[in-house]
Amino acid sequence: MREMAKLSYNGKELEIPVVEGSEKELGIDIANLRSKTGLITLDEGYVNTGSTTSAITFLDGEKGVLRYRGYPVEELAANCDFVEVCYLLIYGHLPKRQELELFRNSIRLHTMLHEDMKSFYNGFPRDAHPMAILSSVVGAMSTFYQDALDPSNPKHVNICIHRLIAKIPTIAAYSHKKSIGQPFIYPDNNLDYVENFLHMMFAVPAAKYVVDPDFVKALNLLLIVHADHEQNCSTSTVRMVGSSNANLFASIAAGICALWGPLHGGANEAVVSMLERIREDGGNVEKYVRMAKDKDNNFRLMGFGHRVYKNFDPRATIIKAACDRLLHKLNLDDPLFEIAQKLEAVALSDPYFIERKLYPNVDFYSGVIYRALGIPVQMFTVLFAMGRLPGWIAHWLEMHESPTKKICRPRQIYTGPQKLAFVPIDDR
Ligand code: SDX
Repeated sequence: MREMAKLSYNGKELEIPVVEGSEKELGIDIANLRSKTGLITLDEGYVNTGSTTSAITFLDGEKGVLRYRGYPVEELAANCDFVEVCYLLIYGHLPKRQELELFRNSIRLHTMLHEDMKSFYNGFPRDAHPMAILSSVVGAMSTFYQDALDPSNPKHVNICIHRLIAKIPTIAAYSHKKSIGQPFIYPDNNLDYVENFLHMMFAVPAAKYVVDPDFVKALNLLLIVHADHEQNCSTSTVRMVGSSNANLFASIAAGICALWGPLHGGANEAVVSMLERIREDGGNVEKYVRMAKDKDNNFRLMGFGHRVYKNFDPRATIIKAACDRLLHKLNLDDPLFEIAQKLEAVALSDPYFIERKLYPNVDFYSGVIYRALGIPVQMFTVLFAMGRLPGWIAHWLEMHESPTKKICRPRQIYTGPQKLAFVPIDDR
């Protein structure tokens, strides 16, 4: 047991237990703070506050380390496909060959949507954002699959997990087809997970579509590096909603909505819009670095900075290398990739970014790869959600399996008016 922390206030002294994690992270356990001192803590944006202990993902922001269930993300990206990483995150260990084949085949058998779900897409306007469609259809899954919704029933939960992992690519691809007025392409169980997604996205009934293995490799890598990131905004949302015992579909739909924000998963779409804007403005990256530093200007370099990484985001390093490989393989020279590299070089040599330890994050280069794959910009955050799904599920499960599970209900410090006498409307 570590030495206790001490808090003294108003003549009282409280000894506070210190919790040490498996990677030597330390936290003070304030479970008795209010009952012993009448004090609560205040921490806007939870910058210093841990919401839970977790055994799923470890990241070291100073060293740029990211591990899923102990395995470095670089090794998983180099040796696994996305379905294997889904299994690792959700079930907690690398699967044996037979375990993985059973999981793959089960996913294959759940890829189709209930035919009546297709009518949802007719209700959306043609230019509906696919993140709005994704969150709506995932939430609606609880109305079509009412046979297995009980969060306390492991069999129900496992069926929900397989349905979500299997159907998200179908839901996503259908939203793309809807936006371009092409017929929906049914899943093909002869294809693997990523091949099937690309086929549903780009095949048309009128012509044979052959999936490019380089595209499959690049997309597996992107989904893997997005798969989990401990207590980020959307994962904390999934835990918060799940803590009320809402079903898994409702919890994931909430996570999708949180991810949509441009400060979070929506940043990948915002990065490409920013790079396009710089290109249209003559590629003058110095001008945009100046704007980002100007406190009177709310412009930010999208894809830069991170709450935890105060060094390179290891995912950005992996994605940038994959980007380079793919563009060379396809003999593509995307001007946005050139601008992104120039912007990175200028920003990382500028004291403003160096002092604030603002480095490219996962979203900075991912959009360039998505563009090379032919993914439309509005679908970028949908692919982030597809990648993050196993992480959300793993955290939801861990929260439900915790013996100390509580409904999440933070406190506040009230700053509004003190007691007022009611004023009848004619006297106001
Ligand atoms: C993701 O949490 C996760 O793990 C998220 C994620 C995941 O996998 O789930 O990694 C995915 O969301 C990546 C981040 C994507 N968002 C963006 O790229 C949007 C641009 N970045 C920022 O808005 C910002 O860096 C955040 C939101 C990512 C982090 O914000 P913080 O930790 O709250 O930091 P802050 O806003 O308090 O900034 C600290 C300082 C401020 O300057 P000062 O007030 O100290 O002078 O850095 C500045 C900020 O103005 N700053 C930036 C900047 N990011 C921070 N200045 C210019 N451009 C930026 N991008």
